[in-house]
Order: sequence, then structure tokens, then C-alpha cells
Amino acid sequence: MHASAPGKIILCGEHAVVYGRPAIAIPLNDVRARVSIIPGAPGSGVCFDAPDLRRRWLITSAPHDPLSELTLAILRRFGVQRMPDIEIAITSDIPIASGMGSGAAIATAIVRALASAYGRNLSAAEVSALVYESEQRFHGTPSGIDNTVIAYEQAIWFQRRSEPPHQIEPIAIAEPFTLLIGDTGVRSATRLPVGEVRRRWQEDPIRYEALFDAVADVVYQARRALAEGDRAALGPLLDRNQALLEEIGVSSPELERLIAAARSAGARGAKLSGGGWGGVMIALVEPETAQQVRQALQAAGATRVLETIVQAAA
Ligand code: MEV
Repeated sequence: MHASAPGKIILCGEHAVVYGRPAIAIPLNDVRARVSIIPGAPGSGVCFDAPDLRRRWLITSAPHDPLSELTLAILRRFGVQRMPDIEIAITSDIPIASGMGSGAAIATAIVRALASAYGRNLSAAEVSALVYESEQRFHGTPSGIDNTVIAYEQAIWFQRRSEPPHQIEPIAIAEPFTLLIGDTGVRSATRLPVGEVRRRWQEDPIRYEALFDAVADVVYQARRALAEGDRAALGPLLDRNQALLEEIGVSSPELERLIAAARSAGARGAKLSGGGWGGVMIALVEPETAQQVRQALQAAGATRVLETIVQAAA
């Protein structure tokens, strides 16, 4: 049984989305996590093999590992009484702790592979809910946007409500647009900046609520720009979102070096994407500026540059 799931980027609204403001997220279909389920020897139990994470482990020897717990939860949910003898082989070309959703993509691919191994047909909402439970257990207070965009595999508008169902809508995109994604190479687990923002919000709720409202304003305007195919309006909105993320305290010198390089090379706008403090930034480019912005990002130290064309779901 094989299954896969895409990476993702947040176009705008990260962090504020944890506090009930809307955000826009986009799947990255060209970078994916893949899972194969292979029959194991009788009595072998469940074994995970993840060469990209440089790990191989038995579910019984690490039952509290996030992926072990997720697998046990799924087997329980499917009513499996006896531990199966299987190997869960995981590969991924999404760099870990990069802001591109590697953890949620691996978890989604595991849910999908086990569902097909057990002949279950899970909806995107069910897959997303299973992955969210696991993210919540290990990442503190996730908004749910990552598991949602990865399970639905389409550009979405996401707004968390205090109780599910959250607001999840496909986003209207009048004209396709091109983003470059530059990786700082600095690994940063999302839960760390998310935890720090929470600490600062608790310390100064009035300031942080106002910052989150300002981010929400950008996200509403970005939705309008996408619906109207107005890339000239979208660029400055990304810049404005970056300025707010700097004030929120989740940017970093490495991110800002790449963002400045992209802007000077002709990008219409640029910002960090995801948790921040490292990971990736995104730049809005035109087909004719893409090459020079890519070179500028590489010259400024990007360890990897991806390109994605964002369009409405077919
Ligand atoms: C991470 O991709 C986005 C954050 O807003 C965290 C979350 O929404 O759970 C930083």
C-alpha cells in the first residue's frame, strides 16, 4: 500500500491564525512525504523505517513516539484487535522543521496508507482530524491549518473557531501566480516560536491582539487581490505581513537577508512563511523576474529554492 501527502506553505496569516484570525495556505504538490506499508515477518509487529529521518524503530520500543501514537490511534479507530506484522516505510523530500509542513505531511501519508491497507475510505476532514490530534499532542497549540491544507490538497482560507467545524474554504484565484520558496537552511521546530508568541501575548495581550488584527486585515485584502488576479496589490501585502511578523517576534536575520535579496532582485513582495525563526521565506515573482530572484536568493545563502505556480483547484 502506498500513499503520499504534499508539503505546504502559508501565504499569509501565520501565528495570528492560532488566535482565531484567518490565514491562507497553499499545498506544495512537488514536495511530498511518501509511505509504503509492507508485510512484515510473522511476529515482527509494527516497524517504522524512516531513512530521511535516519530512524528505524519498533512501535513496542517507542510507543510514545508521535508516529507510533498516531499509528496506534488509527489501529484503535479501525477496530484492529491484534497488532499487525507490518513495516511502515517513510520517505520525504520536505525538509524537516522548515515551515513546509513535513511533520503533518508524514502523518497524513501514514493515515492514508493505513486507511487503504484496511480498506477504509476516509474523507479529507477525517484524515485532517486524525492528524490534528497527533499535532496537538506534540506541538502545543496548533491552529489546524497545516493538517487541513495538506489533507485537502488545495489552496484554502482557514479560520479557527473555538469549536470545530472551523471555517475552511477553497480560495478563489483569478490568475495563477508564481512563488519562489527560499530555505534559510536553519531548522526551527514550529512549536518553539508558537510557544514564545503565546508567552508574549499573555504578557501583553492588548499589543498582540492589535498585531493579530492587523495581520487579519492583510489576509482579507490578500483574498480580494487573489480573487481579482491583482498581483500588484498582493506583493505589498506580503511585505506588510512580514513587517507584522517582525513585530510579533518570529523573524530572523537569515530570513530577512533572503527577503531583502528577493525584493532587491525584483520580487513584488516577500515574507517568511510558517513558524519563523528559520525555515523558509516566500517571494512573489513574475515569470520574467523568477530567474534573477532565484539567483539572488542563492547568492544570499538560500540552501534550496523551490518554485510553485499557485492556481485554483481544478
Ligand atoms: C505553521 O505552519 C503556522 C503557525 O501559524 C502555527 C499554526 O497555525 O499552528 C505558525
